[in-house]
Amino acid sequence: WGDILDVVIESFPFFLTGASMTIKITVLAVTFGCILGLFLALLRLSKNRLISFLAVCYIDFFRGTPLLVQILIIAFGIPNLLEVGQSYLVKNLGMPQILHNYALPIFVIAVLATTLNSGAYIAEIFRAGVQSIDRGQMEAARSLGLTHAQAMRYIILPQAFKRVVPPLGNEFIAMLKDTSLLSVIGLVELTRSGQLTVGATYKAFPVLLTIAFIYLVMTLAISRLVDYLERRLKTGD
Ligand code: ARG
Repeated sequence: WGDILDVVIESFPFFLTGASMTIKITVLAVTFGCILGLFLALLRLSKNRLISFLAVCYIDFFRGTPLLVQILIIAFGIPNLLEVGQSYLVKNLGMPQILHNYALPIFVIAVLATTLNSGAYIAEIFRAGVQSIDRGQMEAARSLGLTHAQAMRYIILPQAFKRVVPPLGNEFIAMLKDTSLLSVIGLVELTRSGQLTVGATYKAFPVLLTIAFIYLVMTLAISRLVDYLERRLKTGD
């Protein structure tokens, strides 16, 4: 028992650096994901069939394929594609060979993959929020002379934002846990910090249990925060 406690205590600062990486990636993914998601939601709601169809394609792809596979595509698939593309140009068009290192920094890969994925989920959250606002709001705004875009910006979206807070909180929690998938490409986030510690100490059970516990503390803290925010926004009604 003394051994086990020592391992956990000694590795704890390392777990905390892992946890801070987990939080960093999650915050960036959900923040950029909100921008991307709002954009995608508005495209999806567009009257232009083609634009709406393209947004649906994007959303379906990122929600309908595993995040793990998306991470692998961005980390290994894209650099491979660029390499093949260049060797094609060199062979067939006689372009001079330019040596490239196509590998992006692992942090950038991590933020990119999680943002592209989260954006698709958030797009659906925003769409549901916009569609939950009574039609009469848009009709009243238009009858007062606002354009469709102005009505969206000043009447519909401000009301929709309140309603999307709880599902956005859920997305944040889900993303926080799903960043553990980034451990497979070697990003030292919380899960990877645990795996590395297991490799060095062979104390798999206590180490992994500690990791799970740190995730739990983070997700519980966020859900309390979201509950609080929800109550605050309600009193504003
Ligand atoms: N677990 C699902 C997957 O592997 C969803 C991942 C994305 N999660 C999220 N909250 N955006 O595809």
